[in-house]
Amino acid sequence: MTGELSPIDKAKFVAAKKSVEFVEDGMRVGLGTGSTAAWMVRCLGELVREDGLKIRGVPTSTRTAALAREVGIEVISLDEARWLDLTIDGADEFDGEFNLIKGGGGALLQEKIVATASDRMIVISDVSKEVENLGAFPLPVEVIPFGWQTSKALVEEMLDSMDVLGQSSTLRMNGDSPFFTDEGNHIIDLHLTRIGNPRQLAMVLNQIPGVVENGLFIDICDTVIVGFGDGRVQVR
Ligand code: 5RP
Repeated sequence: MTGELSPIDKAKFVAAKKSVEFVEDGMRVGLGTGSTAAWMVRCLGELVREDGLKIRGVPTSTRTAALAREVGIEVISLDEARWLDLTIDGADEFDGEFNLIKGGGGALLQEKIVATASDRMIVISDVSKEVENLGAFPLPVEVIPFGWQTSKALVEEMLDSMDVLGQSSTLRMNGDSPFFTDEGNHIIDLHLTRIGNPRQLAMVLNQIPGVVENGLFIDICDTVIVGFGDGRVQVR
């Protein structure tokens, strides 16, 4: 399944491989989005096909849904599952309290809904995403297309009064056109460098009209599985 992997992909793979040890027969499992989560979906598919593991998966994006079906995982909607035993997903940054920045792949909205509807969220990550303070990775904010420029201006105005460093924001693009999420929304990436109070920022951002959700995951993740380029893995 892996062939010759670069150290970073090996780190992602070993974290993903370890995470599926937490999945048990009969579980309803939230399936994250991104390259690390894709390894996890492939590993789970292998267990389903070869070991007869019986699970139902709730994907967090159309990409993950397609991959899950391809590898043999039964896919159900969150409305069918209602509540999940476990969600496994990647992250763009995690700090010592397991607060996260997510949404580099543009799936933050479904990812946050699914993770919040789970008894447990496990993040799988290569070690490079561990940070002392969140914020070096651009923070994604999902906004509805109607009046997005006004929403962007309101976000920037709000940032002036917050404990953050660096305050520019950009509309995420897909080539020459704005990027659209699975929900048909746009993403504004906030280039902040350092977020002093992630909890406060997450709450304030979601008060702005037009903002649907932001990529700060506070008090949602319980466990982080960290992979290293030499194949070592740590469960924290
Ligand atoms: C997608 C995400 C991803 O989990 C995050 O971007 C990490 O991606 P990768 O595993 O490819 O590094 O939040 O919205």
